[in-house]
Amino acid sequence: MTWLITGGAGYIGRHVVHQLAEAGERVVVLDDLSSGSADRIPAGVPLVQGSTLDRADLDAVIKGHGVTGVLHIAAKKQVAESVAEPLLYYRENLTGLQNVLEAAVAGGVRKVLYSSSAAVYGTPDVDLVTESTPCAPINPYGETKLVGEWLIQAAAKAYGLSTVALRYFNVAGAAAPELGDDGVSNLVPMAFQRLTDGQAPLIFGDDYATPDGTCVRDYIHVADIASAHVAAVRRLNAAAEPISLTLNIGRGEGVSVAEMLAVIARISGNPVAPQVAPRRPGDPARVVASAELIHRELGWKAEHDIDSMVSSAWAAWQLRH
Ligand code: UFG
Repeated sequence: MTWLITGGAGYIGRHVVHQLAEAGERVVVLDDLSSGSADRIPAGVPLVQGSTLDRADLDAVIKGHGVTGVLHIAAKKQVAESVAEPLLYYRENLTGLQNVLEAAVAGGVRKVLYSSSAAVYGTPDVDLVTESTPCAPINPYGETKLVGEWLIQAAAKAYGLSTVALRYFNVAGAAAPELGDDGVSNLVPMAFQRLTDGQAPLIFGDDYATPDGTCVRDYIHVADIASAHVAAVRRLNAAAEPISLTLNIGRGEGVSVAEMLAVIARISGNPVAPQVAPRRPGDPARVVASAELIHRELGWKAEHDIDSMVSSAWAAWQLRH
């Protein structure tokens, strides 16, 4: 097998590339380098600069590298940006996916792994979100991820593909400092940014119906996200008959914003009391995964805890600042 990894130079993609290459899989990366960087790809892994919006780029890499499976990770992923620019998100995330599927089918590729998101669930009113919890996304980003799952399932049925859709929960951390997240659009990097600027980290709302009043999420180390991809690839490699799986990647443990900020204060050595700000529109009070199905199907389980996420993210942040 040779696996094409779209978006393999980005934050999550490069972690997946590193672990798959270490696991002995043959991989090739296609990335437009709009947010990823070429120097984070391990030596020996070919990088093709190109876009999933360009069918010719996809055809060329699939043919040129003898690709037999695709991990489609390339996507736009910022919720607020998706509300401001829905057309951009539908084009990048769905036209991109459609091109990937068309090129895969035309090129004889029959195994596809797709990066989905907990954003497909919207504001689930359950303690633990299972894969059969109804999907009701509340922003264009989540919509594109859900429609993407439908597109993949329809194509799988029609063309006999084997597919795995992985719904990521709240990703944090870095497997090595140079692989860290470059973006500042999630809680951990946003708190680091405030602390670096000498300001108190913000809590967006402390009057939610949760134990301490702040929102609860299921944070997952990016190295665990990557190991789930390795497990899924092994399952796809082994599949003689078509398979179709949709799986949460989480730890099954809820952590509040206030709890995260306490860990961030301790690990960064900045004991600055957080400041309470108004609620951020569209934030669900609690989104925590049930991680049972992925354990049952792939034998996968998260290995890293919150301290490991925050300390590795802090080391990556310090390297860049
Ligand atoms: N938060 C703060 N202060 C900050 C930043 C965030 O209180 O400075 C809070 C948010 O209000 C939210 C929690 O921290 O309650 C987590 O916020 P993030 O922005 O880190 O993550 P979200 O849960 O909003 O969204 C993330 C990804 C999405 C994905 C979603 C799926 O960013 O891409 O998880 O659950 F869709």
